[in-house]
Amino acid sequence: MNAPFVEVIDRAALQARVTELGREITISMVEDDPVVVGVLKGSVPFLTDLTRHLPLTIEIDFLNLTRFGREGRVSIAMDLSVSVEDRSVLIVEDIVDTGLTLATLRKMLFARGASSVSTVALLDKSTRRIVDVPVEHRGFEVGDEFLLGYGMDWQGRYRNVPSIWAVMDLSVLTSDPDAFGQHAFRQIDRSAG
Ligand code: IMP
Ligand code: MG
Repeated sequence: MNAPFVEVIDRAALQARVTELGREITISMVEDDPVVVGVLKGSVPFLTDLTRHLPLTIEIDFLNLTRFGREGRVSIAMDLSVSVEDRSVLIVEDIVDTGLTLATLRKMLFARGASSVSTVALLDKSTRRIVDVPVEHRGFEVGDEFLLGYGMDWQGRYRNVPSIWAVMDLSVLTSDPDAFGQHAFRQIDRSAG
């Protein structure tokens, strides 16, 4: 039987690309003092690594959005705590899929008076896009497999896995949500302090 989980981006490749994205964003935002907006919860590992490669004056803030169904209605489950009026905003996303979440968020930030809005997405599933939305900085173009790790979850689990895996057989996870653990945590030595 083929493996149900395959590592598609390892830790070294992730760190190398995150460093490059940091350089790219630094060059484009050097005069901006941006508000870096992380979309909870998937962006957290990426945002913490990326911002350490931004030698800029930034503020970091978070919001949490809930999306309902395929028509793209999005509500704010947790809002920002700073004003974005007349500020440059950098949205940080783990992955852009249909684009519905990002399109709504961009509209919302412009409606609140942001002077510019750009997006860095670690991963882009561009073949699945429903709405055309700009992604100024992207880490990796990926296919339409379901991905896990480095922020991405299955029923809230596995966001803390340090590399990115593709789920080749979703039925393995639907029948046992814990099934990925033995693969995911193999590289982390549990006995080390
Ligand atoms: P969309 O672009 O509005 O369709 O939604 C993007 C969001 O869907 C991402 O921020 C993720 O939270 C989630 N998502 C999309 N693809 C995946 C995946 O392969 N694994 C885990 N979450 C995903
Ligand atoms: Mg997300």
